[in-house]
Amino acid sequence: MILGAINGIDCIAFVLFLIPQLIFQVDWPSLFSVLIRVVPFIVFRLPCQLVQERYFAKQENQSPFTRNASLFQDVVIRCVRYAFARIPASVGRVFFSKGVALPFFRFRLLRHGYIRSPIYYKDIIRNGARGLWIIEDPNTEPDIIIYYAHGGGFSMGSAYFYVEFLMAWLTRLKESGFSNPAVFALEYTLVPDAQWPTQFNETRAGYKFLREAFGDGSAAKICVSGDSAGATLVLSMLLQPGELEKNPQFQSLHRPGLAILLSPWTHLVSELNKNTPSDYLDRDSLHLYAKQYAGQATMTDAVISPGLNTDRWKQASPLNGYLVVYGAEEVFQPGISEMVHHMKKDGAVVKASELEAGIHAWPVVSLFLGETREERLQGLDIMTDFIMSSSLASSIGKRK
Ligand SMILES: *[C@@H]1O[C@H](CO)[C@@H](O)[C@H](O)[C@H]1NC(C)=O
Ligand SMILES: *[C@@H]1O[C@H](CO)[C@@H](O)[C@H](O)[C@H]1NC(C)=O
Repeated sequence: MILGAINGIDCIAFVLFLIPQLIFQVDWPSLFSVLIRVVPFIVFRLPCQLVQERYFAKQENQSPFTRNASLFQDVVIRCVRYAFARIPASVGRVFFSKGVALPFFRFRLLRHGYIRSPIYYKDIIRNGARGLWIIEDPNTEPDIIIYYAHGGGFSMGSAYFYVEFLMAWLTRLKESGFSNPAVFALEYTLVPDAQWPTQFNETRAGYKFLREAFGDGSAAKICVSGDSAGATLVLSMLLQPGELEKNPQFQSLHRPGLAILLSPWTHLVSELNKNTPSDYLDRDSLHLYAKQYAGQATMTDAVISPGLNTDRWKQASPLNGYLVVYGAEEVFQPGISEMVHHMKKDGAVVKASELEAGIHAWPVVSLFLGETREERLQGLDIMTDFIMSSSLASSIGKRK
């Protein structure tokens, strides 16, 4: 099931679902201080900036993203950029919370004629593992499992915000020949409610839950994945398999089949993170969240900041290696390039896919903001093709 692109009616519905949650979850003084800043931005600054940069600036002075984006994409990304830099995460997190994302998903289903989701989904809480289980047929064993950790700077985001993206990915896997693909979308505690190692422990608990639920040998069927801070958690997990590392016999048994990392936040606090005119991330906000996550250790610890790792990439590698997808214009581009360089130098199997004029987490964002079906699925197709070229797809050949 791949729903159509977001339209104006969806935007109105989103705002209607958002308002009660804001009133309910945010205290009045914070809400008021956000409102008095947002209203002048939307009424005055945004339209001026947009007209000036989009219609009056010379092409060579436009940002690569603006040059390539539709009007709708440009407006949304400008709003997100403003919000990321100026709105505190305590308010921002409401936008991506289950309380807004789930009714919005249900609304999108209804708008497309589905009374209920044609793909099964269910919350799971077990042995410290919390997440959203999404599967074609809940009564049959999955033949591939995507273990997904969402992004949002450790301070925002929820599995439900990604449910449509993950179901679209699942649908592409099904169309590619898998008979019963599944996704486990991790739900982890956000900062500042908890800090390192809580999120790291939760990430490992989710993986352990999957391995134990599907028995020995199931790890090879697991593709670990995530975007932004979620991809960071996945990399930290790979670089620190903990007790497994002490027992090399079991290590290969417990290795995931592969890793697909979307715009990983490789260096949590670093000079490598530089604001760009195209991207919507903001270096100062990122560094604030990183410090809430792990304090000074973000600058020195090569598990917490996986990009600092130079020599354990091959040892930590999933059975089929890594795919890293990122945008040429994003804040994390320099850090990601450096990490990919170290991965290759260390002898790991890694495929890097740099999207031209791309901004942060574009495979996720473009599914919602893309105009054509091709543009919307561009990222998911790169991810699915990588899986199809790996040993995870070998079961398909055998069945046919
Ligand atoms: C994280 O896991 C480690 C190792 O299992 C444990 O010692 C530690 O107490 C856990 N910390 C948190 C905050 O969950
Ligand atoms: C513009 O964006 C589309 C969709 O993301 C992409 O396919 C295309 O390569 C981009 N073109 C340029 C010139 O950046």
